[in-house]
Amino acid sequence: MFKYYILIPSLTLLISIPIIFYLAPSILPQRQIPISLPDELDDLSLFHKAIAADSTFLKKPSRKHPSNKFRLGSTTVRRPKIAFLFLTNSDLHFEPLWHKFFNASDPHLYNIYIHADPTVKITPPMGVFADRFIHAKRTQRSSPTLISATRRLLAHALLDDPDNAYFALISQHCIPLHSFNYFYNFLLDTQKLSRKMEFPSYIEILTESPALLDRYNARGENVMEPEVSFDKFRVGSQFFVITRKHSLMVIKDSKLWRKFKKPCVKIQSCYPEEHYFPTLLSMEDPNGCTRHTLTRVNWTDSVGGHPHTYQPPEVSPELIYKLRESNSTYSYMFARKFSPDSLKSLMEMADSVIFKD
Ligand SMILES: *[C@@H]1O[C@H](CO)[C@@H](O)[C@H](O)[C@H]1NC(C)=O
Ligand SMILES: *[C@@H]1O[C@H](CO)[C@@H](O)[C@H](O)[C@H]1NC(C)=O
Ligand SMILES: *[C@@H]1O[C@H](CO)[C@@H](O)[C@H](O)[C@H]1NC(C)=O
Repeated sequence: MFKYYILIPSLTLLISIPIIFYLAPSILPQRQIPISLPDELDDLSLFHKAIAADSTFLKKPSRKHPSNKFRLGSTTVRRPKIAFLFLTNSDLHFEPLWHKFFNASDPHLYNIYIHADPTVKITPPMGVFADRFIHAKRTQRSSPTLISATRRLLAHALLDDPDNAYFALISQHCIPLHSFNYFYNFLLDTQKLSRKMEFPSYIEILTESPALLDRYNARGENVMEPEVSFDKFRVGSQFFVITRKHSLMVIKDSKLWRKFKKPCVKIQSCYPEEHYFPTLLSMEDPNGCTRHTLTRVNWTDSVGGHPHTYQPPEVSPELIYKLRESNSTYSYMFARKFSPDSLKSLMEMADSVIFKD
């Protein structure tokens, strides 16, 4: 006797498997990609190289850190550079705008590094962006892979050029709000250089935020203890501009990384990339940080953890002026997020508004 009552449920099951696979990404929380041991060791060896190289750079008299060695009026001096670290998992939407930004500057004053998720096909960028890709690994939103990618960018830039003095993390959705020269002169103010003042890092560090406890426990209850107690846990925007000293601090760290690399259990409240850097720097050098980011973001009516994305009809000179305004003593230098099709409007006012300062 044929057992229909077994066959029918199994058929139903067979048919439903592809349906489940198809729907799973929208029903189930996204699975986190783990950081494999070989990937971890790869990064560690890069960090060790960068740390070792930095100490030899310091020994060579001609290549010293700008904050203590820069001399005004000397012809032999090497001017400090800014390292622009582009972290992306898509095309660099605003490449033409960034070309204009870099084109108006002295090519000896900056370096560009790009970390692009290798699983995504990206249109090779041109000009100053060509061949600026570093050895990249897969990244995923709201996961420790974004911390790894950022540390990888910092290490490459530290190792590549001892004159890189500041490190600015930029996403493909970011736009500049001022000219390169304005940004450079703001960061590496000659007054500060000549008075040998300590240079600060521009990184947002907040002690309070809704759901901070949820975010603290997103890797499991109490797993952050004892290295990171809740009162030391900080939050801040992922996009920062930090000094060479702080970049080294970040790649030298293993204590906090051991905790922050733990996979998120509650993915919706995890966002390790918004916690690791502010927590680490506020523990190691709170007075060396301004606690403000230079990258404006609009969280009004945010959906699913995404900030407001400016669309072409919103893009105007008034918007640029508005986005520059800040509550601190300096203006914002970058803003996000802009939809890729805002490019045309942005290019139209690049010379007359954005870079006119
Ligand atoms: C860069 O500027 C020069 C003139 O200063 C101009 O001829 C050139 O087309 C510009 N390149 C880009 C990519 O904007
Ligand atoms: C921020 O976004 C909201 C819409 O979500 C918009 O109404 C508001 O004008 C934006 N603020 C600025 C300063 O652009
Ligand atoms: C400045 O501070 C006020 C009051 O806290 C706030 O409403 C406003 O959004 C802030 N402006 C900017 C540009 O952050």
